[in-house]
Amino acid sequence: MCLKKARLFTVGTFHNSFAIPKCPLQRNFASLPNRNLNQKFYENRVLDRYSSQDAKKVSLRQLVLFGRQLTEDKLLSSANYVRTELPVRISHRIRDFQSLPYIAGTNPHMRLVYDLYWQAFDEIRKFSQIRSLDDNRRFCKMLSRNLGTHSQVIPQLGLGVNECLTLITPTEIDQFMNKMLVARISRRTLAEQHIALSNQFDEDILSVSGESSLDHAPLGFSTQRTGIVKPACDIAQLLHGCAIKIQAQFEDAYDLPPDTAPQIVIEGNRDASFMCVPDNIEYIVYELLKNSMRAILKKGQANKGGVNADALPPIFVTICSNDQDITIRVSDQGGGIPYEILPHIWSYSNPEKLHCMDNFNQVNKLEAKVSESERTSPFLSFGFGLPMSRVYAQYWGGDIVIRSLPGYGVDAYITLPRLGTMVENLSID
Ligand code: COI
Repeated sequence: MCLKKARLFTVGTFHNSFAIPKCPLQRNFASLPNRNLNQKFYENRVLDRYSSQDAKKVSLRQLVLFGRQLTEDKLLSSANYVRTELPVRISHRIRDFQSLPYIAGTNPHMRLVYDLYWQAFDEIRKFSQIRSLDDNRRFCKMLSRNLGTHSQVIPQLGLGVNECLTLITPTEIDQFMNKMLVARISRRTLAEQHIALSNQFDEDILSVSGESSLDHAPLGFSTQRTGIVKPACDIAQLLHGCAIKIQAQFEDAYDLPPDTAPQIVIEGNRDASFMCVPDNIEYIVYELLKNSMRAILKKGQANKGGVNADALPPIFVTICSNDQDITIRVSDQGGGIPYEILPHIWSYSNPEKLHCMDNFNQVNKLEAKVSESERTSPFLSFGFGLPMSRVYAQYWGGDIVIRSLPGYGVDAYITLPRLGTMVENLSID
């Protein structure tokens, strides 16, 4: 009877053939040809231990305050927090994979990500307690390696989702992807923050002690570091940096003469600043500017005689801020989004968006030009750019709203809290 149950479960969801700890028949599985089953049974018991725990969430302000008087003890406690917290957060997502319909979970691309998650889960949870700076350096090295290996997760999920469009409902795909992406952002934030603090700490030891050996921090040594968080990020400067970069990329992709891509006018409260992880905000801004730029050039190309650079309307980026929030409006005259498309812009399962996922080098002409080294850049979206941008905004307590004037243009509003006091929002559906 138990065996029957096990078989039933096997066709139900991905990998729960070994998620049936109550079944006494488990003993007999050892004699089955699949020698992995007992091991997987054990692993799932371990997974249970972690997935039954909640994430210990942090706010940007906490990250900044933590780095303020950074001492060796504090750095080691940060290391041990990351060491114990990452496996909890990964375990929740491994469970999500296991809840996928069996046929979707065994898709090779999904499977690859699932295996990567297991690998990282095991490697991090098995890392012994970090008691010295040397332990911490080894730990950071291991985290950096994982961050690199996991850069293939987004394209693989893109390919996987594309192949599962007929197996899972669009709502299920969107929920699955939102959970995957927000958890990924959160894990990478913790890992990158800790690595940045550790590097900064090592640099400070070197500069204070003037020694080449990093074995011991000078007595009473403390420093103020903020890692990847910028406590007062100059938004106008960040926008300007993104604007220059995207104009150059589009000129290259569309073979336009230098300085002829649509202008990007930054206006409003140019003195505003706020607490953020600049990489996250750049991702969002870049994505929205890319969409605007593409729409304007497409509209320009549709005109007889091709693109007339002088006649292209500018993109207006307006900054507005109050005590609590900062809002950035990106306004274009690129023709707008038709009403029938609008409800689908936040979806990961829009087949039109994913039409070229078979070869993710060819997502569009712009991205096709991106070299191998840039393929892991946060600027590549693989068709997920818009929903992923909203996940970034919501993760830090903000949001993105898009208003379309079909036939005319689009206004996108990014709102973000200024003070960094919101804890991570990990429950985005
Ligand atoms: C991810 O990028 O998905 C991670 O979980 C990174 C972490 C293992 C350091």
